[in-house]
Amino acid sequence: MSLRSKIAGIGMYVPKNVFTNNDLTKYMDTSDEWITERTGIKERRFADRSGETTTTMAVEASKIAIERAGITAQDIDFIVFATLSPDYYFPGCGVLLQRAMGMKDVGALDVRNQCSGFVYALSTADQFVRSGMYKNVLVVGSEKHSFGLDFSTRGRNVSVIFGDGAGAVVLQPTEEEDQGILSTHLHSNGNGAEILAMYNPGTHANHWIKDQKLADFDDAEIGEMFFSHAMIDNAQVFPFMDGPSVFKVAVEKFPAVIVESLEANNLKTTDLNLLVPHQANLRIAQFVQKKLQLRDDQVFNNIQKYGNTTAASIPIALCEAWEQGRVNRGDLVCLAAFGSGFTWASALLRW
Ligand SMILES: CC(C)(COP(=O)(O)OP(=O)(O)OC[C@H]1O[C@@H](n2cnc3c(N)ncnc32)[C@H](O)[C@@H]1OP(=O)(O)O)[C@@H](O)C(=O)NCCC(=O)NCCS
Repeated sequence: MSLRSKIAGIGMYVPKNVFTNNDLTKYMDTSDEWITERTGIKERRFADRSGETTTTMAVEASKIAIERAGITAQDIDFIVFATLSPDYYFPGCGVLLQRAMGMKDVGALDVRNQCSGFVYALSTADQFVRSGMYKNVLVVGSEKHSFGLDFSTRGRNVSVIFGDGAGAVVLQPTEEEDQGILSTHLHSNGNGAEILAMYNPGTHANHWIKDQKLADFDDAEIGEMFFSHAMIDNAQVFPFMDGPSVFKVAVEKFPAVIVESLEANNLKTTDLNLLVPHQANLRIAQFVQKKLQLRDDQVFNNIQKYGNTTAASIPIALCEAWEQGRVNRGDLVCLAAFGSGFTWASALLRW
């Protein structure tokens, strides 16, 4: 049998600071009722403002994943780090993690695929393990969203959704016939790039934005400089999201990429022990569950506690599912994601 990769260890870290929906009402005009009804979210974690970064949270999750894999940081031979909220514009968080964990001078790759980031990172790592090039690949998703959101009423449609946290796995080779990542499926379509995006700072010079009918972004100044006072004054340094448009595409692509992974392996939805969808929005996950006719015990959600943690959401959810005994040796598990880009992706694996 050819070599496959398996998840040998998994870890997660969320900041201690819990922010409930009611806490958000101190900053913006919103309500627990609105947020719960539209998203399912009840609370999220926010990183310590100066004590924690995207990288430091990743370190905490990685330590646990590495220990559970029965190795040390010195054994890691490659890092794949997914985030949209890096410590620096450049260099990426991969090298900061390598330094913080005192690893050897191993390769570090940063993945910028937002909510699909972890599945893209996992797929990339899987190829390195399958080819025999690396034996212990650390795959991380980590986000410190709280630093880059507009917590005034102006930004409420975006800021109530997101939270901070990190998750990590160690991939190792396996020759067991009934174990490991069976396949991964990656997609993108850039036609929706501006529907969920953070435009600034950037080099776009209005090139892509000027023809888009984006209600919040019709100011001529946007993008004419890399960074300007006007951008700050006009709140153009925050993420933009046309929520209803994102919702429509998400509920189409999520089920499609899950079915694609099952069909590629001659399996059916009834064979699935657990679907761990990217925690975008509980309503989206419920829509997908209904469309695929999955039972409650076949789907894992924890967005209620953490909000949408983008690249970190799947490893955090998978880690909690594993810790709760919802994932066992031999189980068929599907990881599926959709997000900004648009990008969408899935991974089907036998635990
Ligand atoms: C964001 C989302 C929850 C908004 O729900 P929606 O039902 O589409 O709501 P709308 O954007 O149409 O806004 C409805 C109203 O609520 C208001 N509103 C927006 N955010 C609000 C908030 N946090 N609190 C209270 N009211 C809010 C709007 O201003 C609007 O008011 P109006 O009718 O007076 O104009 C929903 O579109 C969604 O979940 N989209 C997908 C987002 C997602 O998953 N993103 C991550 C992808 S990885």
